[in-house]
Amino acid sequence: MCPPEHFTVEYAINPWMDTSVPVDPALALKQWSMLKDTLTELGHAVHVLDARPGLPDMVYSANGAFSVDGTVYGARFRHPQRADEAAAHQAFYRTVPSWRFVAPEHVNEGEGDFAYLPGAYGGIVLAGYGFRTDPAAHAEAQEVLGRPVVSLRLIDPAFYHLDTALAALDDRHVTYYPGAFSPASQRVLAQLFPDAVLADRGDAEAFGLNLVSDGLNVILNTEAAAMRDKVRAAGYNPISVDLSELKRGGGSVKCAVAELRP
Ligand code: ARG
Repeated sequence: MCPPEHFTVEYAINPWMDTSVPVDPALALKQWSMLKDTLTELGHAVHVLDARPGLPDMVYSANGAFSVDGTVYGARFRHPQRADEAAAHQAFYRTVPSWRFVAPEHVNEGEGDFAYLPGAYGGIVLAGYGFRTDPAAHAEAQEVLGRPVVSLRLIDPAFYHLDTALAALDDRHVTYYPGAFSPASQRVLAQLFPDAVLADRGDAEAFGLNLVSDGLNVILNTEAAAMRDKVRAAGYNPISVDLSELKRGGGSVKCAVAELRP
């Protein structure tokens, strides 16, 4: 995670960002701290990257890399405003001797557009494209990680990253909003995950799919009340955290957490 110490909305690279509405930096930091404390209280170890001035989106640390089985596939950002974030993430992974870091050739925004399901089909990667990640990065990720990568096309600019439209609820179950995907990608998802928890447009607009799950506890933002009920009905323990300020940048819980898979 990376604290929103320099968080602002000073450019607009997704439809949620409105540069005319100022963010409340103190509230953003307070809400982020609550999320961090929630993870810690659940027993998860949280590493914190130093925020860097001039990189207001660095709080969305999920975009910095994608790790599977101790291999870290580095990010390469679509927009120049975020380009320098990649080096900060790379520096973190390179400090841990057991990680194998692989620098990418193709544009990809890390866990924003990649999800890993270790218990589905022996371990598969789901990958989004259409707005940020280059589809060429899907093939590259498959070569780097040695896991099958399933490409899914995102079609709605409001849901520009895979993690705004789909989430892993545990090792092999997902939840997603079908309308965010092309008709063919919807058929792929229905074939792979016939028992998925389906979300609707309201759930996705409340960033209810931008969740972090440890397989039992599902952390999602407070606004996503209907999604919280769906998660509970599916047998998980939902935990709501208010992240209203981070939504101004077009992100929520999942965007703020890069999961480490050593
Ligand atoms: N403002 C950031 C961007 O548009 C938000 C990133 C959200 N992160 C995510 N994993 N969906 O790049």
